[in-house]
Amino acid sequence: MWKLPVIVVNFKLYTQGSGKKALDLIKTMERVGEERGVTLVAALNPLDLGALRKDAHIPVIIQHADAVEFGAFTGRINLEVAKERGADGVLVNHSERRLTIADIDYLVERAKKLNMVSLVCANNPRVSGALAFLRPDFIAMEPPELIGGDISVSKAKPEAITQTIEAVKSVADIPVLVGAGIKSGEDVKRALELGAQGVLVASGIVKARNPYEALNDLVDGMM
Ligand code: G3P
Repeated sequence: MWKLPVIVVNFKLYTQGSGKKALDLIKTMERVGEERGVTLVAALNPLDLGALRKDAHIPVIIQHADAVEFGAFTGRINLEVAKERGADGVLVNHSERRLTIADIDYLVERAKKLNMVSLVCANNPRVSGALAFLRPDFIAMEPPELIGGDISVSKAKPEAITQTIEAVKSVADIPVLVGAGIKSGEDVKRALELGAQGVLVASGIVKARNPYEALNDLVDGMM
């Protein structure tokens, strides 16, 4: 498992996080990770994972997988294929790609069997507590209304962070990440002070004018 606290960067389907630009961002993450001694994880589009895995020297996960085995499924991707292409883990149930609880359960169990890390997203403390019963490796709580905005979960909803940690820890000792609107080291610092063990971030890094500086700023908040 990864050294905590961890920063997971979701490349989404931003142009700045796709294809050749995705590789540039991975290289920046590698550099910052090495210079600062922290774990930075890239959450990639499955196609980019296949193309870039061999050149990426940081942990990489895919942004979504379907709860299916091999067979007659069109336009789907399963964890077996992701593993074979080199994915270290999977983001499950992101607010932009919600799943049923049965599908989440399938993916968490499958990830365990395949020795892949599962990060299950939840939109609030109650859902976080409920999903803790499935025993994923990480729970990542992101209030959907703050995703992509400039006001972070740490500033706008600190109570949601403490309630999430309380709800999750009452079920199992699963590390909690938080995300949505995280843009600065101050946001990261506050999240960690409230008990989070990492952050999930997208626009603040992927769309930053200078991702190297933006990443370093986030890492400052971990020190
Ligand atoms: O997966 C992380 C993401 O949903 C947060 O997005 O742009 O608010 O950092 P953003």
